[in-house]
Amino acid sequence: MMQNSFSKRLFSGSLKNQYKVTVLGASGGIGQPLSLLMKLNHKVSELRLYDLRLAKGVATDLSHIPTDSKVLGFSNQEEDGLAKALDNADVVLIPAGVPRKPGMTRDDLFSINAGIVRDLATAVAKNCPNASICVISNPVNSTVPIVAKVLQKHGVYNPKKLFGVTTLDVIRASRFISEVEGTNPTNEVVNVVGGHSGITIIPLISQTNHKMMPKDVKDKLINRIQFGGDEVVKAKDGAGSATLSMSYAGSVFADHVLSGLAGEKDVVINTFVESPLYKDEGIDFFSSAVTLGPEGVSKIHPIGEVSAEEEAMLAECKETLKKNIAKGYKFVEDSK
Ligand code: NAD
Ligand code: LMR
Repeated sequence: MMQNSFSKRLFSGSLKNQYKVTVLGASGGIGQPLSLLMKLNHKVSELRLYDLRLAKGVATDLSHIPTDSKVLGFSNQEEDGLAKALDNADVVLIPAGVPRKPGMTRDDLFSINAGIVRDLATAVAKNCPNASICVISNPVNSTVPIVAKVLQKHGVYNPKKLFGVTTLDVIRASRFISEVEGTNPTNEVVNVVGGHSGITIIPLISQTNHKMMPKDVKDKLINRIQFGGDEVVKAKDGAGSATLSMSYAGSVFADHVLSGLAGEKDVVINTFVESPLYKDEGIDFFSSAVTLGPEGVSKIHPIGEVSAEEEAMLAECKETLKKNIAKGYKFVEDSK
């Protein structure tokens, strides 16, 4: 039988790389394009979409794409909709929650998103405790600790399989440094470490080929990477934050998680995980390069050599991160 050349070229996957992926918040600004990109990923055999609205419609729409995966939509209106969406999932992507408007910080989203993420994490603990969980909902510096605490409460926390998605900071850094240096962004790699908000985002420019950049140019570049999210929030003028670049970033991250599960070699990406790097300073979670394997995190890489300037940025980052993480923990501890 004839196969269309589009699917043959892009989506020919081997049967052993078949995973069940669930998107929570699948009808949102990120959720829809992220679900589309996961429908195009040949490692996915079953894509489950869950939202408070429209998930069945989005699923039906995506189900017409001729890639070798099934798409199912679930809503909170049906009995056990969330449980069915999560049942035995291998990977769970969580972009559920409200986005920023101009003038807000990511921490301003905590009051709404903390409860959403806590409740979704509870459902994950009950229905797919072995899943790799990728948290996109902001504020990531606090929502990841929230998920960890919920899973701990249920006795199913596996730190190797809980990730805060910070890929957008890394892709922005590639793009923005290439604009400054007049290079091809696909050849630029910047090690961005720390967390995912303002000054906790630390692009280690000293580790790139552009360490001789003039200080004023470098300072401006670092600021743009740290506040890239605000650039989009301002441009969208009240209609939300980054969705398309984020869905691209989320799909790149999810693909790395799936590649790790599938046993591919040298799967390395930066992500916010429970980390030994600064644990002795009371910082349980930190984003750095991580190698992913069949059991999730297989190695957390040290951040490498940094300049005196970056060392000072790290000190500030750690102070903020500590508070953000503690806020997440406290929220779950105070929850009934
Ligand atoms: P959006 O409002 O467009 O979509 C959010 C979706 O979540 C909506 O469809 C909504 O119905 C759904 N939702 C809300 N509560 C839910 C629940 N309890 N269960 C299931 N679904 C629920 O927002 P968006 O632009 O897609 O952004 C989503 C989140 O992602 C925000 O918190 C935003 O700050 C964050 N974000 C993170 C990054 C990152 O780099 N990690 C980047 C961009 C945005
Ligand atoms: C981003 O970095 O674009 C996201 O965290 C969304 C935001 O609020 O900026």
